[in-house]
Amino acid sequence: MAKKYRISDKFALSEHIVLFHGDCLDLLKKIPDESIQLIVTSPPYNIGKEYEKKLELQMYQEQQAAIIRECVRVLSPRGSICWQVGNYVDNGSIIPLDTILYPIFTELGLKMRNRIIWHFEHGLHCSKRFSGRYEAIIWFTKSKNYVFNLDPVRVPQKYPGKKYFKGPNAGKYSCNPLGKNPGDIWSIPNVKSNHVEKTEHPCQFPVELIERLVLSMTNEGDWVFDPFLGTGTTIISAIRHQRKGAGAEMVSKYIDIARNRIDKEAAGTLRTRPMNKPIYDPKEAGNNLTISPWTTEQNNVQLSLLNKK
Ligand SMILES: C[S@@+](CC[C@H](N)C(=O)[O-])C[C@H]1O[C@@H](n2cnc3c(N)ncnc32)[C@H](O)[C@@H]1O
Repeated sequence: MAKKYRISDKFALSEHIVLFHGDCLDLLKKIPDESIQLIVTSPPYNIGKEYEKKLELQMYQEQQAAIIRECVRVLSPRGSICWQVGNYVDNGSIIPLDTILYPIFTELGLKMRNRIIWHFEHGLHCSKRFSGRYEAIIWFTKSKNYVFNLDPVRVPQKYPGKKYFKGPNAGKYSCNPLGKNPGDIWSIPNVKSNHVEKTEHPCQFPVELIERLVLSMTNEGDWVFDPFLGTGTTIISAIRHQRKGAGAEMVSKYIDIARNRIDKEAAGTLRTRPMNKPIYDPKEAGNNLTISPWTTEQNNVQLSLLNKK
């Protein structure tokens, strides 16, 4: 995208990009009813990150409810809300946040369409439970008549050469030439230290994750809004596909990062991991770190025997 848009700090429907430094409820107050097509966000998880104060869980739920209520007010009748969350952890016991936030959405009359599992390979190594390698995106719509464009987000089939073997179409290719539905388990690398998109923010989501939501749940010219904007990922995903983007962020250093990334995106110089790029396979790439230094000659012999069996 070569166009350079003005970045406004106040919301107006005539703007293209709104970057608000402050509390999302203050920005939400300025957004007209039913004007936003997609709200996508990753809120604080209440786990004591540098940008949040750990609260009693009930207080956290109440804060989230106040923001979600306002989001529903500004959501267009054909619009979608996607809340991307992981676990709240208390004394080693986990509570998946989507389980405690789900009732807030349904009590406001929203309908759940998918619980998308975002799977990734890297993260903390746990010693007293299995290491967490997924988070969820809970997707709700305001009505039955919601925007859903599958074609722009189709992915390659496993067997594109497959044909019908009987019936009136026997001998014809059975797959959709545009690809298949990506399903509800998405394997997309998370933004860790060697990811091309990494900034100093501790919890960015990757642009490609949000692009898929933007492309499937909005049309060109629609508004996409993120109440917890962080480094601006949602706005970047929106403007990359000719949508309008708005978001709020409380911390000024993240606002600076977001502004810088949005400027780069507008100039066509922001480096991101491309959508649908296959996951890096170190073995296939011949990375010699995949050779275990602990594998002894004897283990090798035993392994080869097992393989033969
Ligand atoms: C999980 S991070 C979101 C990161 C973002 N998805 C990205 O890709 O960079 C949550 C962000 O919400 C911000 N935040 C927390 N409470 C807020 C509020 N009431 N209004 C606006 N921003 C808030 C935090 O400073 C933090 O940067």
